[in-house]
Order: sequence, then structure tokens, then C-alpha cells
Amino acid sequence: LTVATSLIPVNEPLIGEEERRYVADCLATGWISSEGSYVRRFEELWASYCGVEHGVAISNGTAALFASVAALRLEPGREVILPSFTIIGCALAVLEAGLTPVLVDCDPHTWCMDLDQVAGRVTRRTGAVMAVHIYGHPVDMDAVAAIADTHGLAVVEDAAEAHGATVRGRRTGGLGELGCFSFYANKIVTTGEGGMVVTGDAELAERVRSYRNMAFRADRRFFHTEVGYNQRLTNVQAAIGVGQVETVDARVARKRELGRRYGELLAGCEGIALPVEEEWATNVYWMYGLVVDEATGHDAVSFAEALRARGVDTRPFFLGMHEQPVLRDRGLFGGERYPVTERIARQGLYLPSGLTLTGEQQEAVAAAVRDVLGG
Ligand SMILES: Cc1ncc(COP(=O)(O)O)c(C=O)c1O
Repeated sequence: LTVATSLIPVNEPLIGEEERRYVADCLATGWISSEGSYVRRFEELWASYCGVEHGVAISNGTAALFASVAALRLEPGREVILPSFTIIGCALAVLEAGLTPVLVDCDPHTWCMDLDQVAGRVTRRTGAVMAVHIYGHPVDMDAVAAIADTHGLAVVEDAAEAHGATVRGRRTGGLGELGCFSFYANKIVTTGEGGMVVTGDAELAERVRSYRNMAFRADRRFFHTEVGYNQRLTNVQAAIGVGQVETVDARVARKRELGRRYGELLAGCEGIALPVEEEWATNVYWMYGLVVDEATGHDAVSFAEALRARGVDTRPFFLGMHEQPVLRDRGLFGGERYPVTERIARQGLYLPSGLTLTGEQQEAVAAAVRDVLGG
């Protein structure tokens, strides 16, 4: 076995000519901070893509989550139900707002929150559900809405990983009260660092705008009655975003094609579970995940090492919120177990999935996976 010197990367951003032109325009005109026409255009284009009226550009996806949960204005002590299998920002946004995160396990096939467990976790303190679309596959937002309606809950959607994914034909982000996006460099549409909150509710949009801009009051500028931070997106970042949104359909189509092709190349491979696509959904395969069977003798760490030795870079799956020392140290989730999350956290990883991945590279990745599994 020879150790490869250059790895097939998990992701490289795809940046077009328009992005360069728009950024050059910002630099030439001096509109380089958060004032400027590209921010507004990016907000309008993205909100419209998500099928809702308002978009509020923000510094990153984590800030989008913080601002969205804060905008709900739930009284301290109330609870928010979210998946155990997600990024830590989801839980931190809940804590920052003085609320309590309550977890449900995830579905073993879609890796998204198990909606059958949500009703059982509703109490009289529950105020919201945070639905997180995982690795490109959406949560069934119609089922979430049904639960939310029954119990009078608000819905925050974390669509950071699922730009353009659909639930019964409707795009993610616009399917709850507030939808959160990340435009980090590995996202389908990117601004380098960046995020957005989209909503159909003008008042919620205004609260997010205020939170992102230090809660300055229109009537008396340096007089503050709310908490707000500086989480503004720059016009330069938004200029990249405008160029990216102009090609979003091709980007999403390319991701779906990459997902389809991996499915074909890895079909019949024993010892790994591949991503699925429920019949009511379109999966955008933001990252193409694999869950390795314990019976192969591999866990995600040893599988990743074996792939790395064959020239393929990977990333591990999330570790469950209930296993995070920083949350457990705050007295959260003591003794709670989420078996599906625990298994996929240990056995799951994702393959190179970027928009610049070539057909040849994809074939090499699949061949490496087959080789590690022993043919
Ligand atoms: C599901 C999910 N939510 C939120 C975020 C946070 O986004 P950002 O990295 O832009 O802060 C990410 C991360 O990339 C994510 O995967």
C-alpha cells in the first residue's frame, strides 16, 4: 500500500465569472461594508428562491440560528425540541435565548430527526421545534407542521445543508416560521462565510434585522431596549452570493447528479449504508454520507484512515448533542441515550462531494471504498 500524497478533497468551492465581476464592482465603488445594493439583492433573490417574502442576510449560519431563536421571544425556561444529531450551534442558539434544548433521536435512514419521538417530548413548556435537514435530505416539514399546529409550537428550520431540497415540491427554508441558511465555503451556494434567515413574517424579519445590527432603534440610535450584536454580512460577501444564486439551479442539479452517480457506483456494496431519498422528498446530497456496518470491523475513524491511504479525504459525522461535554457540563441530557445518533456518530463519514468533483475523481473514490471493503 502506498500512501497518497494528494487527496481528493471533500469540497472545493465553485466560483464563477459573475462573482468576480460583482466583487470587483464593490471594490471599485467602495461599497465594501454591509451597506450596499448586493446585500439587498442577495436577500431578495434568496427569499424568493425559498418562496417567502423576507430575507435577512447575516454573518454565518450559526448567527442565523441564534437570531431566529431569539426572534421567537419565548420566555426563559421554555423548551425547544431539536435533533440529537446536528451541529452544536442548534443547541447553543437555544441556550443563548435562555431556553432549554430537548432532544429526539434521528431516523436511521434519512439521519434527520425522528418525528415519531417529537410528540412524546412535548410538555407545557415546549415553545418550538427546530427541524434540521441533514446532509441534503429534508425533514418532512408537513409532519412537523402537523405536530406544531396540534401543540401550538413555532417551527425553526435549519436548512444550512439543504439548499434547494424539496418536501412535496416545496423548497426548504420557507416551510417553518423562520428558515436558517449557512453560506460557508462548503455549502451549495456560498459567500465564503455567510448566512441568511428567511421568513414570511414581516415582524420576525424585523426582529432578526435588529438583532443582527446591535438593536439600534430607529427613533433614538444609541438607546437600546433589546439585545443585538454585529452579525452583518458585507456587500462583498453578498456580491459573491448574488453571482452564486444566479446559478443555483445548476448547482443543485449537479449535486443531485453527484448523489445519483455515487449511488450507481456503490450499488450492491456490502457493509455500508448509503443516503436515501424518501418519495416525498428531493435530496440535494450536500455531502454524500456513508454509515459503515460494525460487522466490517471498521468504525468511521479506521474507515477514514483507510480511505486517506487510498487518496480520498473524508469528514466524520456529527457527535450527538447528549455526548457533548460542553452541554453535559451545564447539566443537560444527563443519562439520556440516543442509540441511532450514537451509532451513526461512530460509524458515519462523508465522501468528497464538492461541485468541482470530476467524474474520474468520483470513480476513484468509489473504487477506494470498494477496495477498503474488500472488493
Ligand atoms: C446544520 C447546520 N446548521 C448550521 C451550521 C452553521 O453554519 P456556519 O458554519 O455558517 O455558522 C452548519 C454548519 O456548517 C450546519 O451544518
